[in-house]
Amino acid sequence: MSTRVRKAVLPVAGLGTRMLPVARATPKNLLNVFDRPILSYVIEEARAAGIEHFVFITSRGQGPVEDYFDGNPEIEEALAAKGKDDLLAQVRHDLLPPGSMSFVRQMAPLGLGHAVWCARDIVGDEPFAVILPDMLMMAQKPALAQAVAAYEQVGGNIVVVEPVPESETHKYGIVALDGKGGRLNRMTAMVEKPAPGTAPSNLIISGRYILQPDIFALLEKQGKGSGGEIQLTDSMVELMKTQDFHALEYDGTTFDCGDKIGLLRANVAFALQRPEFAEAARKAIGELL
Ligand code: UTP
Repeated sequence: MSTRVRKAVLPVAGLGTRMLPVARATPKNLLNVFDRPILSYVIEEARAAGIEHFVFITSRGQGPVEDYFDGNPEIEEALAAKGKDDLLAQVRHDLLPPGSMSFVRQMAPLGLGHAVWCARDIVGDEPFAVILPDMLMMAQKPALAQAVAAYEQVGGNIVVVEPVPESETHKYGIVALDGKGGRLNRMTAMVEKPAPGTAPSNLIISGRYILQPDIFALLEKQGKGSGGEIQLTDSMVELMKTQDFHALEYDGTTFDCGDKIGLLRANVAFALQRPEFAEAARKAIGELL
């Protein structure tokens, strides 16, 4: 069994109701953050963390996610003929080596836990990452690479977390820690969307995980939880009875691109970060304000 984290599961089979009506026609992870699809940033982050195989959990309407990873000879030849090498490199940026992607169908949106369980045969018996692609992370050292470094330090299971205001905790999965010293701490509990005022901390589970394959057997018999969905959090709570879980408070900023204002914020932030566009972006935003 490999102990290195080589595979990542990317569930994209949710209904994306918060992004309707646009998500009716376009998979939400292909919506743009400035000039690239959300997915492009996430793939870059995963590759920087050493991920070699990408397991997408898809559903009806998510076909364009698979097509995104095809080459486009017409565009590539035209750019090459015109000597537009920079643009050509950008167009080819996300093309992954043959054999490094799998697409698994989740036939009904039964929940994130069920989506991850759908990857069991392809992941096999090795630790793996889970990446929620709509949670976009801006960080000097890519967020998943920070999680992998934590995993190499303490092993077991890692959940990337971040603080939010107390008033926001009821919207997320929340972790409880065994004391707090530095950014990497042992976890004692997790709860999915706690009722207002009952959260054990203000640290939310922010969409990057490193899990041991033992989670699959628990997901297999996991009943419905919060929201009537099969929740990954509930099986992680079960696994925590026999294995170590650490919460990593990562160094960076998260944008929830599954939310309309979150996606807007990401667009502004990532445009401002691009040296060649920053000044024009600042001017355009200033004029609008
Ligand atoms: P979300 O809670 O963001 O759900 O799921 P969603 O359906 O995408 O969006 P809303 O809330 O309806 O707007 C977190 C992640 O889990 C995936 C989603 O695609 C998203 O990446 N997911 C969720 C699945 O793959 N299958 C499911 O059954 C549920």
